[in-house]
Amino acid sequence: MTQGEPIRKAVIPAAGLGTRFLPATKAMPKEMLPVVDQPAIQYVVEEAVGAGLSDVLMITGRSKRALEDHFDRSPDLETALGLKGDDTRLDAVRHASELGPIHYVRQGEPKGLGHAVLCARRHVGDEPFAVLLGDDLIDGRDQLLSTMIDVQRKTGGSVIALIEVDDSQISAYGCADITPIAGEDYVRVNSLVEKPSVEEAPSNLAIIGRYVLHPAVFDVLEETAPGRGGEIQLTDALQTLAKGEGEGTGVYGVVFRGRRYDTGDKLSYLKAVITLASERAEFGEDLKTWMKEFLG
Ligand code: G1P
Repeated sequence: MTQGEPIRKAVIPAAGLGTRFLPATKAMPKEMLPVVDQPAIQYVVEEAVGAGLSDVLMITGRSKRALEDHFDRSPDLETALGLKGDDTRLDAVRHASELGPIHYVRQGEPKGLGHAVLCARRHVGDEPFAVLLGDDLIDGRDQLLSTMIDVQRKTGGSVIALIEVDDSQISAYGCADITPIAGEDYVRVNSLVEKPSVEEAPSNLAIIGRYVLHPAVFDVLEETAPGRGGEIQLTDALQTLAKGEGEGTGVYGVVFRGRRYDTGDKLSYLKAVITLASERAEFGEDLKTWMKEFLG
């Protein structure tokens, strides 16, 4: 790996079963659930591309063909829209297939996020890379990934994104014990624990779904035993890197205070859809007026 070369690769795990949204996700990947008029996964791919990551690898599984179709050309649909002169929709349809080369690899068995990331090893090779989890949408106006990429370049380690949460929420996330670094806008991560109870949690800093990782994580993941939930946890591999010494070790955190929309459970998903819809120029104001009336 050459220090200083730009980070180019993004890995997007999308092999989950989407059980929280059943029956909507019985025959459709949860990543295709619409957030206003665009599948959730498209926001994530656009974020990666916007941060300069031109090579996207999706980790998929069974029943995920719709993802590949969505980011591919659709000649019949394009011809039909062209004949109608519907340029706006034609552009929207084409845009999804013009986000860059998207590659796919299957995870095969649902053995956890750490295992999903390990499936990217051959494609990523020996370079630092980003991981974006589809359940978190980060507002394009709030730079997070590009800040994390800068921190990776500066430190040579791995970088996680953290948010402050209420104590009652910490058990839904990985949790970090950190030390601020004087004069820097990132922190040193001393240790990590996956989904701790409130009593075990070392802080109220929760890991959210953006990572910029040193490729040393792959060797560590190969050796990481199943952890919480019997799954190979990325958090456990990062804990090893935080405690390790030498090339590729060291974990740093960027505490994010911008706009994040969680689409991972039904209530958060509904809030994300309403928030983003209310900002749309075409109908945002009408929606807000209606909501006021609806709430009486
Ligand atoms: C994963 C990670 C967890 C992190 C979370 C962020 O958990 O294992 O550390 O806090 O993503 O969304 P999951 O939500 O996939 O169970």
